[in-house]
Amino acid sequence: MHYFRFSGSQLHCEDVAVADLVEKYGTPLYVYSQRTVAEHFQKLDQALAPLDHLICFAMKANSNLSVMRTLANLGSGFDVVSAGELERVIAAGGDPKKCVFAGVAKTEKEIEYALRRGIYSFNVESEPEIVRINEVARRLKKRAPIAVRINPNVEAHTHAKITTGTYENKFGIAFEQVEAIYERASKLKHIWLRGVQMHIGSQLTSVEPFEQAVKKVLPLVAKLKAKYNLEFFSPGGGLGIIYNPALASGDPAWWKSAAAKDILTPDTYAARLLPLLQPLGLRILMEPGRFIVGNAGILVTRVEYVKRTGKKNFVIVDAAMNDLIRPAFYDAYHEIVPLAKKKGAPVSSDVVGGICESGDYFCKDRPLPRVGEGDYLALLSAGAYGFAMASNYNARPLAAEVLVKGNRHALARRRQAVKAIWADETVAPWLKQ
Ligand code: LLP
Repeated sequence: MHYFRFSGSQLHCEDVAVADLVEKYGTPLYVYSQRTVAEHFQKLDQALAPLDHLICFAMKANSNLSVMRTLANLGSGFDVVSAGELERVIAAGGDPKKCVFAGVAKTEKEIEYALRRGIYSFNVESEPEIVRINEVARRLKKRAPIAVRINPNVEAHTHAKITTGTYENKFGIAFEQVEAIYERASKLKHIWLRGVQMHIGSQLTSVEPFEQAVKKVLPLVAKLKAKYNLEFFSPGGGLGIIYNPALASGDPAWWKSAAAKDILTPDTYAARLLPLLQPLGLRILMEPGRFIVGNAGILVTRVEYVKRTGKKNFVIVDAAMNDLIRPAFYDAYHEIVPLAKKKGAPVSSDVVGGICESGDYFCKDRPLPRVGEGDYLALLSAGAYGFAMASNYNARPLAAEVLVKGNRHALARRRQAVKAIWADETVAPWLKQ
């Protein structure tokens, strides 16, 4: 469920016409619905209510300070993957004590920073990392809380670039090695074995892989808990969202339709996983990113030109793969709708950006309403891994971001100034003569 709907002929975010936002803030523009963010968090929080639990929002999906503050205010923790992200948590008003630090390449500096800030746990991904954390903690006269990330070698049935829980992937520690690593880590004086973690992949649309992975690691987790007095277990993030039909799924009636039956919801997740997790008697952490913010954001773009070549109808827009890379990188589907409903038969169209790459497209051969220069389109479900993966490729400034709550809206990030793109660069002195 989300709050992007047509009211009359106009697309609205909550109670605000998106066209009004475009007029005020320009395009390309990311628009986030605060209510959608909050409700997704709350739904998951409620589904996990029978357990002692903590949701750590995987902020890599969307690290806008307003979005993060929304979640921090609801009691969310954060899953961070760099010292920069931890600094962002603090800037957003989040609590480092509710943060877990994941990632395969933590540097000494990052470990030191996180230790000084008192994070909840390092999710460690290799044995040398444990040795390094122990060393830094010794120097700081601290004990570092850690959880080993188990790679359970389970197929997640998602896109290859976002599968993480098989032995083809660089992530975690192989299931068979985990017990011996806990044993060796337990001898390190500055390591506090606090939990166990895993994460098998992203955009999972069925509960089976989660269930399979949890069932596989459960006996091991119970054994480690008994031996080392662990406090928590995290089955990670990865809950998928609806990309198609993204708009229909914002309609309460759609959730009663046959199509909605197969959707992975927090309730389905809880119904299948809680009975497995509850007997563990551990605190349960979760690290969802996409589920919380994915359907809560759209990218709005202006049609600049329409061009018909021998074969195709190209709709050329002012957003491009630097603003939203998911279609180019993962062949991802984002529903595309005009901000103002159009009449007439759909035309098979490619919506493309202005970057000099053939991969710079948002959709191919998709039946879309006929649009022309000056029309606006919304790319739906762009709240996760949208702005977060944006770049300055082709010297294109980063888009602006707006947060909507009811009938209010605020600029959550102003459009980047073009000069800011090269503000950190200098011309080598010998070139200046
Ligand atoms: N925990 C760990 C250890 C992760 O690696 C990830 C995502 C998450 C949690 C959050 O996963 P989520 O709940 O959002 O599925 N850029 C890609 C997705 C990359 C996911 C990376 N790791 C995309 O746009 O589809």
